[in-house]
Amino acid sequence: MITDRELIETLRAAARNAAKSAYCPYSNFHVGAAILAGGQVFTGANVENASYGLTTCAERTAAFAAVLAGHRKFDAVAVSCVDVSEDETQEHPEMLMPCGACRQLLAEFADAETLILVDRAGEFRLRDLLPHAFRLRSRPE
Ligand code: THU
Repeated sequence: MITDRELIETLRAAARNAAKSAYCPYSNFHVGAAILAGGQVFTGANVENASYGLTTCAERTAAFAAVLAGHRKFDAVAVSCVDVSEDETQEHPEMLMPCGACRQLLAEFADAETLILVDRAGEFRLRDLLPHAFRLRSRPE
């Protein structure tokens, strides 16, 4: 379980910085994600498409980067929705939260206790965000 404050802040900063790479001309909603895996940080950002349903969230591009580098076990995740104003974070904190699909995607490579840092919303464990996650009994290692 990750409890190292410096590491957590590094991950938060990496997620915020990654949001700058988002391709989001339709929503103009920049999201960044950072995943700690195998002692390395992998980042991602949302990539939208004119066919809206093809959009890929920041958490998923970061997860794919980690997996493609050979890491199938995530130790911590940070997500940052940088375009949400301070006023909005008070009234609509849900605008900062990872979507349901990404929670399930993260559950593939994280365990119930994995830290999910949601920038400006708080620190959660995967089990808080996705209780009763779907898993196949035959899940491969
Ligand atoms: N988005 C993410 O990148 N992650 C989430 O968890 C929620 C939503 C993106 C998708 C889309 O490009 C934009 O935010 C607006 O929905």
